[in-house]
Amino acid sequence: MSIKTVSLRTILFLGLCQAGRRTLASDPGLREQPKRIAVVGAGIGGTATAYFLRQEFGAGVKIDVFEPENVGGRLATVKMGDLEYETGGSVIHPLNLHMKHFIDNLGISQRENVPSKMAIFDGKELTFEESDWFIVNMLRMLWRYGFNFLRMQMWVEGVLDKFMRIYQYQQFGYSFSTVEQLLHAMGGDGFLTLANQTLEEAMLGEGFSQVFLNNIVAPITRVNYGQSVRVNGFVGAVSLAGADSGLWAVDGGNKMVCSGLLYHSRAELIPARVTSISVKVRPSKAGTTTSFYEVNYVGVSGPAHSLYDIVIVATPLHTGKSDISFPGFSPPIPSHYPGRFHQTVSTLVHGLLNVSYLGTRQKPSDFTVSDVLTTDAEGCFLNSLSSVDPVTIPPGYHRPPASTPSVWKIFSPRPLTEAQLDAVFLSRDPGASETRWLAYPAYRPPHRRTPPFVLHDRLYYLNAVEWAASAMEMSAIAARNAALLAHHRWHALTGKIDQEDLHVRLRGEL
Ligand SMILES: Cc1cc2nc3c(=O)[nH]c(=O)nc-3n(C[C@H](O)[C@H](O)[C@H](O)COP(=O)(O)OP(=O)(O)OC[C@H]3O[C@@H](n4cnc5c(N)ncnc54)[C@H](O)[C@@H]3O)c2cc1C
Ligand SMILES: *[C@@H]1O[C@H](CO)[C@@H](O)[C@H](O)[C@H]1NC(C)=O
Ligand SMILES: *[C@@H]1O[C@H](CO)[C@@H](O)[C@H](O)[C@H]1NC(C)=O
Repeated sequence: MSIKTVSLRTILFLGLCQAGRRTLASDPGLREQPKRIAVVGAGIGGTATAYFLRQEFGAGVKIDVFEPENVGGRLATVKMGDLEYETGGSVIHPLNLHMKHFIDNLGISQRENVPSKMAIFDGKELTFEESDWFIVNMLRMLWRYGFNFLRMQMWVEGVLDKFMRIYQYQQFGYSFSTVEQLLHAMGGDGFLTLANQTLEEAMLGEGFSQVFLNNIVAPITRVNYGQSVRVNGFVGAVSLAGADSGLWAVDGGNKMVCSGLLYHSRAELIPARVTSISVKVRPSKAGTTTSFYEVNYVGVSGPAHSLYDIVIVATPLHTGKSDISFPGFSPPIPSHYPGRFHQTVSTLVHGLLNVSYLGTRQKPSDFTVSDVLTTDAEGCFLNSLSSVDPVTIPPGYHRPPASTPSVWKIFSPRPLTEAQLDAVFLSRDPGASETRWLAYPAYRPPHRRTPPFVLHDRLYYLNAVEWAASAMEMSAIAARNAALLAHHRWHALTGKIDQEDLHVRLRGEL
């Protein structure tokens, strides 16, 4: 699907983000800088936090990043034959300005674009197939769904336009202590309502038809979040924006951004798992006392601990995602917040697709669809089926038609059985790759409360943001916010935290 006009406002913001950035680190008259900061987790959130912390606090502070597994977290690749493929987070929206800024600053390139073509499968047949011709797609959509499709583009653009405000706020150094404050600053009460109702409720309320929701919107939420139109309206809008044109990925793999940010931040990577975080009080030189956070961790050489002035947790505090205890805090901080993460199994197969499985009579050599989305149909065991390109496009590469064996990626809620794989493929090479991700929250609005960004005085939690929406850019936005928040709270710059009506106040600043 490819219609999207970038509004003038977003273009203005793009320019703004390239402009010089504030350096508060060198402001005179501020309290002494912190000496040591810990970041827990080296996914895109943790590594971006290290990068922004360096920007805020300057060269003097020691930053340690704890990570027991691979740098990148949910951004990961697997090798199939001689080439590597994304198994986790794969596509980035053209208006994800932090991700764009990272690669520009780190000297990384975008992967070369290979044209894609989408179809929708209802478990029996293809109910929609994108044509190479924009006008044909439009007419088909108009014929079937009236103006729903055009109105969806406008609705998503309206949300995106407000979303883009966050870049201006962050450029001016504003930060937010809860997900709700952040959402409210972007889109007022409208965004809070959107995040606390289902996408289905939100879109029915806007006059979209149930048929359109089932046939077009659900396949999009299923491919992006493995869930139905009962996800929250905010993540739903993010998901629909993910059906825009111009989506990109990082040459060499998206996780390259994480290692690049880590290197650029001059943080130290500590290959260890954090087990607990507590407060320790120590006498200070001035005769008073100072409190520190004691981070306990287990690495290859056994358990150890270190003291920090500031700690930022950049991994979800949920069952199956991490297991960190917070002894002695009042009010208590739970190891696991309520709510669970949704499983998406990512299976990569090198094989020959059985196009008849998709109910099409096209010859395999004519079948050039790259992304098969699915409706919420009973008995449909897959969320999506995509012909995937390697993380680096070899010279002269063309996406092969379905008559040639190639690499396909299936997202499904459960691991696929041999029988299921036999149904989809005529033949397949041994050595399929399966990754069972606890991928993103299981969205069940309305929700009572989102976890806070501030867990304690100088202890912060990035992944609270995932309850609004989980995406690379959301973690990057939360990372910038956490670094700003940590800086402003350290120096008691309350005028830069949770300010109301920023949208109106900053209007003149453009
Ligand atoms: C299958 C799939 C497809 C997706 N598709 C997209 C997409 O196309 N576009 C998009 O924008 N997003 C996508 N996402 C979402 C995106 O990948 C995530 O939102 C993002 O990568 C989260 O980054 P993070 O750094 O916040 O968390 P994570 O990447 O989960 O990083 C947390 C890190 O913390 C570490 N950790 C855990 N416990 C501890 C501990 N006790 N001590 C120290 N470290 C610890 C973990 O090992 C991990 O490396 C997808 C996700 C999945 C799974
Ligand atoms: C391909 O799929 C069709 C439809 O599901 C099925 O009838 C046929 O047996 C499959 N072909 C092979 C060789 O498995
Ligand atoms: C979400 O809505 C429910 C009722 O529908 C309400 O009780 C709750 O406070 C709301 N949560 C937020 C975070 O606004």
